[in-house]
Amino acid sequence: MKGLKRPPYAEDDWTIPQDWADYTPSEHATWDRLFERQSKMLRGRASDAFVKAIDVLRLDQPGIPDFAVLNDRLGGLTGWSVVAVPGLVPDGVFFEHLAHKRFVAGRFIRRPDQLDYLEEPDVFHDVFGHVPLLADPAFADYMQAYGEGGLRAESLHAIDKLARLYWYTVEFGLIREGGGIRIYGAGIASSYGESVFALDDASPNRLGFDLMRVMRTRYRIDDYQQTYFVIDSFEDLRRQTVEADFAPLYETLAGQGDIQPDAVLPTDLVLHRGTQARLRSRRG
Ligand code: PHE
Ligand code: FE
Repeated sequence: MKGLKRPPYAEDDWTIPQDWADYTPSEHATWDRLFERQSKMLRGRASDAFVKAIDVLRLDQPGIPDFAVLNDRLGGLTGWSVVAVPGLVPDGVFFEHLAHKRFVAGRFIRRPDQLDYLEEPDVFHDVFGHVPLLADPAFADYMQAYGEGGLRAESLHAIDKLARLYWYTVEFGLIREGGGIRIYGAGIASSYGESVFALDDASPNRLGFDLMRVMRTRYRIDDYQQTYFVIDSFEDLRRQTVEADFAPLYETLAGQGDIQPDAVLPTDLVLHRGTQARLRSRRG
């Protein structure tokens, strides 16, 4: 992220106090509405690890979670913590926090007229969407290593490639589980519409996860995804990434072209070939 300016009230590492006591009753009520709707929706749709962590972390208690309380539970499980930031932060700051097992979360919550869509991640997306899997040891490991890998990718000029991996796993990842496909990506899990679309709609492609392929694939930021990649397990994802040296992979990728968001290649493991009907109808 270029051109972000650190507000004067933020620390050098961009963190701010959550000031939990300052949330209004109406802000807590917005969290409760979103939580109600999404936690019901995700039963049987999200990965078991995600659903179980909601209970273990007591995210089901009313109101916007107090990070200090949440961090006691999360820290005891995987050593991770959540820290508040004003909004999007520069890549380097983001990677540095992840590498130290700190997940940066927006402090603010969306307005009541933005329940279904907003542009900047708020506390519901960041905490409900991202924090449950930080309680899973393999996934937590992946996130920390991703932060270290990000710092490395900066010097190898490969941030754009690595960012695609984050996008198609941490934000929009699907996983094979229980004889079907489940959600684990935070961008899906925190969205009412996309948590149906990603699993049930005929439009998007659902392809087996392939690390190099993913890092070549462009993505949409203005609509639901046209392609989702399905991992076999968090342990498998961890093994393929944390334990790999990406430097030679970036070199190979530099000589390969981008893949369009809707493309299906002969080499893909196709679990579902999308009709792409959604985009066609939106383009009229
Ligand atoms: N192991 C990768 C590297 O050598 C970094 C990485 C770890 C990337 C975990 C993604 C996830 O740069
Ligand atoms: Fe996110």
